Amino acid sequence: MNRISELHRLDNKVAVVSGGAGLIGAKLCEILAQAGADIVMVDNNPDLARSEAQRVAQLTGRRVLDRCVDITQEAAVRELAGSVHAEMGRCDILVNSAHYKGGAFFAPLGEYPLEAWNQVLAVNLTGAFLMCREFGKRMFAGDGGVIVNVSSTYGLVSADPRIYGESGINSPIAYAATKSGLLNMTRYIAVHWRPKVRANVLAPGGVENKQDPQFIENYCYRTPLGRMARRDDYQGAILFMCSDASAYMTGAVVTVDGGWTAW
Ligand SMILES: NC(=O)c1ccc[n+]([C@@H]2O[C@H](COP(=O)([O-])OP(=O)(O)OC[C@H]3O[C@@H](n4cnc5c(N)ncnc54)[C@H](O)[C@@H]3O)[C@@H](O)[C@H]2O)c1
Repeated sequence: MNRISELHRLDNKVAVVSGGAGLIGAKLCEILAQAGADIVMVDNNPDLARSEAQRVAQLTGRRVLDRCVDITQEAAVRELAGSVHAEMGRCDILVNSAHYKGGAFFAPLGEYPLEAWNQVLAVNLTGAFLMCREFGKRMFAGDGGVIVNVSSTYGLVSADPRIYGESGINSPIAYAATKSGLLNMTRYIAVHWRPKVRANVLAPGGVENKQDPQFIENYCYRTPLGRMARRDDYQGAILFMCSDASAYMTGAVVTVDGGWTAW
């Protein structure tokens, strides 16, 4: 094997990806499978998970399982980790990409509902915690592994309300709190399960996905690279983070945002 393959190949690895059927998640699964990993796509949307798992399996020739699990449910996550180990024999890579899509996008800050706050926290933070706890402790007790928690630029800096114009939409405070919470949760894991488990955060910027044209224009203007991300713009970063290419990196935040946080 040449040095490039040695650093980036994931042959004989098993990767579990929560939110794996999503816009970004499916593309992360795709590149991990192309690098040689077998995939467990975990999502609470069973139809999407099935079709995306089939698509990734056909594209890559890897084994891709779909598992319909609500990651906010402790017993279900515990059972998932047990069944993945029973069926696949191991989990070397855990990527937490799931997030709660709702979350009161129109609510003004002063009226932000507690119910939405709790729903967002349950998936984005508690769900990620449960997945890290159940899969991470097995990595730590076994051959080690890699965890990547997917945050956001909005976990690093506040959402910029100016880009939403008069639409009344905003990115909610609960999203900001959870995406930021992932940063230190991940550092904590990196420190407490060192050196066997490496844990890092990927902080992506916004993906263009049929948003309002004015919003896209505002977002592009606000972004040094002048465009929103494509769905597959995070494949290079996740491959780096999940492979030996990043063997000396833990507790870090990899920001891939077109420069959004640079000014
Ligand atoms: N899309 C963007 O512009 C963008 C920008 C910055 C950060 N991010 C982050 O990237 C990650 C992926 O985003 P995306 O655009 O692919 O989102 P998405 O909404 O397309 O995918 C999220 C997936 O999570 C699943 N999910 C939701 N709740 C779940 C639960 N309780 N249990 C299991 N699965 C659940 C959904 O079914 C969905 O398939 C998220 O963490 C998001 O915060 C996205």
